Amino acid sequence: MSTTTIPNVVSIAGVDPSGGAGLLADLKTFSALGAYGCGVVAALTAQNTCAVTGVHTPPTEFLQRQIDTLFADVSIHAVKLGMLGDAAVVRTVAERLAHFSPPDVICDPVMVAKSGDTLLAKSAIAMLREALLPQCFMITPNLPEAGVLLGERAPESIKEMYRGAERLRELLPTSSERWVLLKGGHLPGNELMDLLFDGDRMLELPARRVETKNTHGTGCTLSSAIAALLPQSRTGLRPVEAAVRTARAYLQRAIADSGALAVGHGHGPVHHFHALWAQRGARTHTQ
Ligand SMILES: Nc1ncnc2c1ncn2[C@@H]1O[C@H](COP(=O)(O)OP(=O)(O)OP(=O)(O)O)[C@@H](O)[C@H]1O
Ligand SMILES: [Mg+2]
Repeated sequence: MSTTTIPNVVSIAGVDPSGGAGLLADLKTFSALGAYGCGVVAALTAQNTCAVTGVHTPPTEFLQRQIDTLFADVSIHAVKLGMLGDAAVVRTVAERLAHFSPPDVICDPVMVAKSGDTLLAKSAIAMLREALLPQCFMITPNLPEAGVLLGERAPESIKEMYRGAERLRELLPTSSERWVLLKGGHLPGNELMDLLFDGDRMLELPARRVETKNTHGTGCTLSSAIAALLPQSRTGLRPVEAAVRTARAYLQRAIADSGALAVGHGHGPVHHFHALWAQRGARTHTQ
């Protein structure tokens, strides 16, 4: 892809009608960060900022048709995987990715919503590990997800996160470049730490916790930001590290500015367009 081309990025994920997480949040993120957003619906949810009250999964033949029809026409530069729901969905997505082998597949192994509701059947974990992870360029689990993927207790300290990131890297092919971003948002305290590991260098990415309830879709937003930025970083130095750092900075601002929105009564969304709408506001004031 030339540096002047706008990348086409697809999210394969669930729909959250409140727009804070899932496919809708992914498209906002792509749009805010200079990528053209496409979307394949892997699940419909009935959801707001407080709870998930229902999940409807499309038949796998229709899921396959969505993917095949899109990929037959549009050149895809990166893929973000979010909520996949159950083993049949995971298997279908894995099969179609194996068929099309798109670059830069970023998998956010979504298992539980911020509200505590389950988003991935337990029976899908083995399929995820065996069929999907080998095709992923990067995985972005949080600490409970890391525990489930590794079949052990979730890491409870930075030291245990180091070991977790190393073991997660072993779930990805060792013969080519692959990355683990282990998110430490679930550890207590005001200093947050994510770890970025490629099997060789462990990067500590610290951040200060923003005091807010508005963390609905932070994980969705971060993985989508990376998918949008990776194809645009490819010509620079340390492209993966650069994309992840920029994605995290974008998310931190989106969390910090989330108070500008008034959406729901539970965990509200982050402000995906904090930079763009601030400019518009400034222009309006000077007119
Ligand atoms: N309150 C906060 N302030 C600043 N950064 C945060 C906050 N909460 C989470 N983060 C950061 O947001 C990113 C996503 O982390 P988090 O642990 O929330 O993911 P997640 O559990 O997958 O989220 P989700 O529930 O949306 O799936 C991480 O980089 C984490 O460090
Ligand atoms: Mg998550």
